[in-house]
Amino acid sequence: MSHPSPWFESPDDAARRLAEHGYLADPATATTAYLAGALEKPLLVEGPAGVGKTELAKAVARVTGAELVRLQCYEGLDEARALYEWNYKKQLLRIQATGEQSWEQTHDDIFTEEFLLTRPLLTAIRREQPTVLLVDEVDKTDVEVEGLLLEVLSDFQVTIPELGTVEAVRRPYVVLTSNATRELSEAVKRRCLYLHLEYPDAEREREIVTGQVPDLDTRVAEQLVAAVGRLRDLDLKKSPSIAESVDWARTLVALEIGELDEKAIADTLGVVLKHASDQDKAVRELKLRS
Ligand SMILES: Nc1ncnc2c1ncn2[C@@H]1O[C@H](COP(=O)(O)OP(=O)(O)O)[C@@H](O)[C@H]1O
Ligand SMILES: [Mg+2]
Repeated sequence: MSHPSPWFESPDDAARRLAEHGYLADPATATTAYLAGALEKPLLVEGPAGVGKTELAKAVARVTGAELVRLQCYEGLDEARALYEWNYKKQLLRIQATGEQSWEQTHDDIFTEEFLLTRPLLTAIRREQPTVLLVDEVDKTDVEVEGLLLEVLSDFQVTIPELGTVEAVRRPYVVLTSNATRELSEAVKRRCLYLHLEYPDAEREREIVTGQVPDLDTRVAEQLVAAVGRLRDLDLKKSPSIAESVDWARTLVALEIGELDEKAIADTLGVVLKHASDQDKAVRELKLRS
């Protein structure tokens, strides 16, 4: 494992290079992103939807030129989808084609590389080039998958009974994200660096929005960010995320709205709030008139 580190040289280096690639990190995020690479520790990023958890992993890959390998978690995800499985169909075909051969010989034939289907975890471990492994939305899987992750993340090796142990040639940069719909196990947390992401402050959000929608008028950008902040202060089913701020900005540009007043907010509310009850509440509590 004597590769030069492809990751970041310092927290400042992380902040600067991430920003150059469109990801505006606050100091805590930049520091943790640096440490994850320097210490070769997986990074667990937790926080509400749309605050930039997944995007952070993608940005690290973009910045460093590493390949992004993504394991999207969901209920029912199993080892065969996360790690590897044997290509049964192909094995069957080979068995049918072997004829007289002894079973031992056939067995040795069909449990080889050629019949192995590698899934994201194994793929990431075996790659020789720099890799960012994104394990997205871990809280959506069952606890068994957490056990599997734990094994992989503690030793960076995988044992395939028929083939032997595969050890990482170089450790991937690992990012796990969670919306915290359930608590992850203490064991997983112990293995990881932890970053809690929240909605950015007004200034950072304005930079993110104008970075992605350069045509947005400066004053409208300020009004938009302020309005989003007021909406987030309400007790809503689903608070507007950064992605929705950006969508709203695009909408305002498309509609050529030069002043985000109460009427303009009310008219475009559907871009930011996706529940009827949330819209009603916003209209009522912010006293919007359309
Ligand atoms: N710090 C940031 N800098 C630039 N864009 C960001 C940042 N955080 C979030 N975004 C934007 O918000 C969108 C949603 O972020 P995403 O990472 O998908 O959210 P989640 O936290 O749900 O994974 C991204 O596609 C990106 O455009
Ligand atoms: Mg995400």
